Amino acid sequence: MSPAIPALSLRIDGLSKQFGGLKVFDGISLDVPADGVMGVIGPNGAGKTTLINVICGMLAPTAGKVYLGERDVTGQAFHKVSQLGIVRSFQQTNTFRSASVEENLYRAKRFNASRGGQDLGLEELLEEFGLMAHLHEPSDKLPYGLQKMLGLVMGLAARPRFLLLDEPGAGLERRERPQVDRFVQFARAKLGCGVLVVEHDMEMVRRLCPHIVVLESGRLLAAGSPQEVLSRQDVIDAYLGIAEE
Ligand SMILES: Nc1ncnc2c1ncn2[C@@H]1O[C@H](COP(=O)(O)OP(=O)(O)OP(=O)(O)O)[C@@H](O)[C@H]1O
Ligand SMILES: [Mg+2]
Repeated sequence: MSPAIPALSLRIDGLSKQFGGLKVFDGISLDVPADGVMGVIGPNGAGKTTLINVICGMLAPTAGKVYLGERDVTGQAFHKVSQLGIVRSFQQTNTFRSASVEENLYRAKRFNASRGGQDLGLEELLEEFGLMAHLHEPSDKLPYGLQKMLGLVMGLAARPRFLLLDEPGAGLERRERPQVDRFVQFARAKLGCGVLVVEHDMEMVRRLCPHIVVLESGRLLAAGSPQEVLSRQDVIDAYLGIAEE
């Protein structure tokens, strides 16, 4: 099935972000094709969330460019960037807390109603994730894992042309984590969109991402397939020795 609104590539070029005297990252360049899945790994505080915040327009970069397809979206406001099609999920949950699951989904859909397109059949995902049974409950009363999956499904309701996922597996029980794989497969099957995924669960990274980059001390330490990158001694020293529970 070809999506009504085509997916777009994401390219960042020489991107830097500084908070006062703190250089979080400096001169980062990445290219993710319209149908690519790229993993970003790195130690706590490496700047992964800040990178997502800059790409999606929640923070302005200190230098560098962000392109969605051919379009320069650098420094555009978050709402504008999401209208153009970059949709992000959050490391913590991000639902409208007292609103029901159904209301949350309604708001997410309405947010991008102007974009149209065929029905995505999100009910299938809601059923699989166990959210259908909680449709009328306030989202903040759901177990954390369900809130997290609701946040992801809401992102899809906005019909992304490129998807940014900030630690989709964080806070999920190990047995729940395959739901993230299923979510990514679903997004790609229905919308064909590329995905940039920040994640600490290396098994999930290996399953989902044909390409990964390692962010460390504000620069890209390594890039390549998980097999290549995760066996490098400098990556093990900088990150993997301390990564996983
Ligand atoms: N708004 C801000 N103002 C000042 N410093 C910030 C701000 N946001 C993040 N930082 C700093 O930037 C650095 C990178 O933080 P960030 O949250 O991007 O890391 P991360 O790689 O996502 O870490 P984690 O794996 O723990 O989620 C940290 O030193 C953090 O304290
Ligand atoms: Mg983070």
